Amino acid sequence: MTEAREFRLSDALLDRLARARSVLVLTGAGMSAESGIPTFRDAQTGIWSKFRPEELATPEAFAADPDRVWRWYEARRKTVREAQPHAGYLALVELEALVGELNVVTQNVDGLHQRAGSHRVWELHGNILRSKCHLSLRPIGREWIEESPQTPPPSPYVPEGLARPDVVWFGEALPTAAVEAAVEAASRCDFCFSIGTSSLVQPAASLPLYALERGAPLVEINPEHTPLSAQADQCIRGMASEVLVTVVSQLQAAKRENR
Ligand code: OAD
Repeated sequence: MTEAREFRLSDALLDRLARARSVLVLTGAGMSAESGIPTFRDAQTGIWSKFRPEELATPEAFAADPDRVWRWYEARRKTVREAQPHAGYLALVELEALVGELNVVTQNVDGLHQRAGSHRVWELHGNILRSKCHLSLRPIGREWIEESPQTPPPSPYVPEGLARPDVVWFGEALPTAAVEAAVEAASRCDFCFSIGTSSLVQPAASLPLYALERGAPLVEINPEHTPLSAQADQCIRGMASEVLVTVVSQLQAAKRENR
């Protein structure tokens, strides 16, 4: 198989990656697009081009119409359950074995990195397959959800409580432990990839900047230009799967040569 030249990491960056002790990979919705999960801001297919976030992804929307919000998330959960991690996810698992440490920080709520086999994954925006009580915020198991005939299922903890997806809605705080781990990973890394994110949503969009401040090279993998592009050492304008497979095979070849 021939590799498209433009999808390759430059020789200088490949050398840095080969010597990296800690690699940070930040992913967004574009990482899951080739697994059949829509992005948010694509003009034609993006979720926010078809739905208004304030009607479906806020605590106020849930309070106003829990049934509608729950059903909308059920439809998204179905898409996520049917999706399979693509070759780019598997390439990231292989990358883990080639570098000292690999931290995957994701804005995605689909759990595909974990399903592919990545070990150190930090979910900034929660996980759509998990549920929690909307009042006590305690986790609710899948069995309880599936056995309930009600939409949304009631909370097992609080009489007026309802099950809600364990994702971060607009206006809500991000999970502290994940944010702390992500910031720590960004401040420690010596190589950073930003993959499939429009780099518009904070605090995720700042993580590559922390990596740059530390002196780590930054590589953006995205078919489109983003506000981060100007700061990247290299922008690889391709789809996540093809680019990641190419980059990881480049690194494997480089390591074989140096043995
Ligand atoms: P966006 O939808 O804003 O951006 C997706 C990015 O992926 C775009 O820059 C696309 O060009 C790129 N892209 C599309 N297909 C790709 C492919 N095959 N390979 C690589 N890149 C590709 O998604 P996010 O940046 O993840 O928050 O959005 C951030 C947050 O905004 C989401 O987590 C969500 C949303 O509101 C919450 O729900 C809290």
